[in-house]
Amino acid sequence: MKAFIKLLSLTVAAVTLLSGCEPPPNLTVQHGYRGTGMVQVYRPSAVDAKAEENVLPASLPPVSSDGPKASQAYKNVQVLGNLSVNEFTRLMLSMTSWVSPNEGGCVYCHNPANFAEDSKYTKVVARRMIQMTRHINADWKTHVAETGVTCYTCHRGNPVPQNVWFKEAEQEKGADFIGDRAGQNLAAKSVGLASLPSDPFTPYLLGSLDIRVNGTTALPSGNRHSIKQAEWTYGLMTHMSSSLGVNCTYCHNTQSFSSWKNSPPQRATAWYGIRMARDLNTAYMEPLTGVFPEHRLGPTRDVAKANCTTCHQGAYKPLNGQSMLKDHPELAGPGEAAKPAVVATK
Ligand code: HEC
Ligand code: HEC
Ligand code: HEC
Ligand code: HEC
Repeated sequence: MKAFIKLLSLTVAAVTLLSGCEPPPNLTVQHGYRGTGMVQVYRPSAVDAKAEENVLPASLPPVSSDGPKASQAYKNVQVLGNLSVNEFTRLMLSMTSWVSPNEGGCVYCHNPANFAEDSKYTKVVARRMIQMTRHINADWKTHVAETGVTCYTCHRGNPVPQNVWFKEAEQEKGADFIGDRAGQNLAAKSVGLASLPSDPFTPYLLGSLDIRVNGTTALPSGNRHSIKQAEWTYGLMTHMSSSLGVNCTYCHNTQSFSSWKNSPPQRATAWYGIRMARDLNTAYMEPLTGVFPEHRLGPTRDVAKANCTTCHQGAYKPLNGQSMLKDHPELAGPGEAAKPAVVATK
């Protein structure tokens, strides 16, 4: 983090910007060609606070891959069979500290009388989460690069990650006496308290509706996208900006929001991020719906799902770009085709 702060101060273009009601000085960092107005504005106190939130937990020391395999030693190992017993135990310990440190430890997922049993839903979910984590690291390098993710990236010591989303219940979307709010004007946190549609996730991070709304020709020639559709796009973009703690110009030259030629490379990474989030939600989260108990489900009885904030939590790269995966090669792969697995329901 020291290095990051140094980098910030080295690249600071101007330190005297008054923005909104935050007391100066703020830091502005040039992010695009000169004259394009592409700067990132940072509050030093917020940068410091983020550094504290993103300190990595200590990794357990590496262990030997020799000796009997988990598949030989245990009865019901369906995914981690190739690990040595030592590696297997190290991962169980790490998972406990990443996901359920305060929930009784191993017993959050296991019946202590019989570790092989799949009687707790948390174990069934965790098995699928191991496959998902490997899939992210092996098949979504277009987004997570070699940095990768572990359970900690999303969970940070909580059984349910702090940043998840549910579909909104229908009545919340309006239909009061002043009419249908069309999913907006709720000053929702998901879209930075703006009047934008408050659930941009269902159409874009679960469904695959078209995010692009700009006309592609100078003169009007049949672009049928409406202002209302543009508001949904802006809802998603506001979520993306706030989950990364950046301005729109981190990914766009605002001279033309649609032009890829004028966009920084981060926009392409974000493009893959949208597809990745969609894949995780449709291939992993949704098929687990029947496994979760009622009290974990949302107002429309859907499962909690991931968006950009689930991993990023306000940082341009989760955990400020530090990799935990390098200490956990067992989570690097193998990948798998993104097809929903059949998981037994209760
Ligand atoms: C977050 C959930 C979770 C936690 C916490 C957890 N485990 Fe596991 N455990 C699993 C899953 C999932 C499997 C099955 C892995 C597979 O199918 O490849 C498993 C399998 C096992 C097995 C193999 C049992 C058999 O005979 O098939 C043992 C032993 C085990 N865990 C020990 C532990 C210990 C010890 C702890 C605490 C330090 C622990 N686990 C914490 C999810 C968890
Ligand atoms: C991309 C983010 C992400 C990663 C990475 C991730 N999880 Fe999850 N996890 C979630 C989400 C989202 C839920 C859904 C929460 C819900 O519906 O209760 C969840 C739920 C769970 C639950 C159920 C908890 C409960 O009390 O209901 C367990 C257990 C779990 N994950 C274990 C793991 C383990 C173990 C790993 C690493 C091998 C892991 N997760 C990696 C996002 C993630
Ligand atoms: C993290 C990167 C990122 C940030 C930050 C970001 N965008 Fe985007 N934006 C994208 C990507 C990627 C697309 C294309 C999505 C696609 O095609 O799937 C896009 C598309 C758009 C479009 C549609 C362009 C078209 O071709 O019609 C508009 C408008 C837009 N963004 C506006 C904004 C605004 C306004 C902000 C700030 C509130 C913002 N964006 C912040 C990455 C970003
Ligand atoms: C599974 C966790 C995860 C999710 C979900 C996720 N990201 Fe990322 N993202 C990462 C990781 C890890 C990196 C760091 C990759 C690297 O080191 O280059 C990253 C990097 C990025 C970068 C590059 C930042 C830079 O400065 O180079 C952008 C932009 C980005 N993510 C946008 C998004 C957007 C937008 C979403 C939601 C649509 C999203 N991410 C969802 C894990 C995630």
